[in-house]
Amino acid sequence: TWTSANIVEEQVELIREQVGDARVISALSGGVDSAVSTALVQKAIGDQLTAVFVDHGLLREGEAEQVRQDYVAATGVDLKVVDAKDQFLGFLDGVTDPEQKRKIIGREFIRTFEAAEREVLATPGAPVRFLVQGTLYPDVVESGGGEGAANIKSHHNVGGLPEDLEFSLIEPLRTLFKDEVRQVGRELGIPEAIVSRHPFPGPGLAIRIVGAVSEERLAILRRADAIVREETTAAGLDTEIWQFPVVLLADVRSVGVQGDGRTYGHPIVLRPVSSEDAMTADWSRLPYELLERISTRITNEVDEVNRVVLDVTSKPPGTIEWE
Ligand code: XMP
Repeated sequence: TWTSANIVEEQVELIREQVGDARVISALSGGVDSAVSTALVQKAIGDQLTAVFVDHGLLREGEAEQVRQDYVAATGVDLKVVDAKDQFLGFLDGVTDPEQKRKIIGREFIRTFEAAEREVLATPGAPVRFLVQGTLYPDVVESGGGEGAANIKSHHNVGGLPEDLEFSLIEPLRTLFKDEVRQVGRELGIPEAIVSRHPFPGPGLAIRIVGAVSEERLAILRRADAIVREETTAAGLDTEIWQFPVVLLADVRSVGVQGDGRTYGHPIVLRPVSSEDAMTADWSRLPYELLERISTRITNEVDEVNRVVLDVTSKPPGTIEWE
């Protein structure tokens, strides 16, 4: 019978057999799949594993801290954090084209991860021969079910992995669907805030700022996004909504009025969608009371924002993200 406890036990056994005395490296992205696959490997082989978390500064409020602190406390994983915020922001400076943003983030991620990897390889101990991948069953099916390096998904959440990969892969989630992965994550004691996360794009908030990315703009978007998540969770609608992108139109300003004064601020776009697989999506019919609370709070609490608008476009023709 399928229980998350059985899956954990079975995978721990398999991972131990596969790895032997070798060491293993893993990339944590902040997402569910890498968190659960890494925790499984940690449970199996403990400190033979080094997890690397590249903090690119494009995660949502509190998420990097959840990985650095809560996840480590819950799993005991040996985590190497690379603070690469300045590097990523520097390369993104002035860049507005969405695909250009993705390219830069993917490239810098690989560079940073490889540098961390070299450091791990240089530490004394058994050779590092394995890389953990959070591949799920739907990814396996999508890519034809083959084995090995050709099958690495152009990794969503970490934005691409080195091409000259000299590692064998450990893919402990290969037979599981997303909801099963979440159950296994709970079984492993991973904080609920991580386990129940919605899908989030690898390039993060950079592709939810329409316009150039800057620290100030990230701070505005982070505040608005945090309010949306708080209110949606309080309304009990997290599982009903597939994803809820919050988008800052950073180059648009509109006139508003607040107190005695005229404002000239930015709009925030709400983009809640329902979907089965992100290939198609429908805009979520959220309760007006929730929309009102979100709008009131954002315009009250985020100084630079004076207007909140709702995206009522299906996919197709709209995509889920704005970039
Ligand atoms: P779109 O916007 O194309 O998004 O409807 C479909 C799904 O993919 C996610 N997405 C990305 N994920 N890197 C990612 O890892 C990306 O560059 C990227 N762009 C879109 C999006 O959040 C949605 O789940």
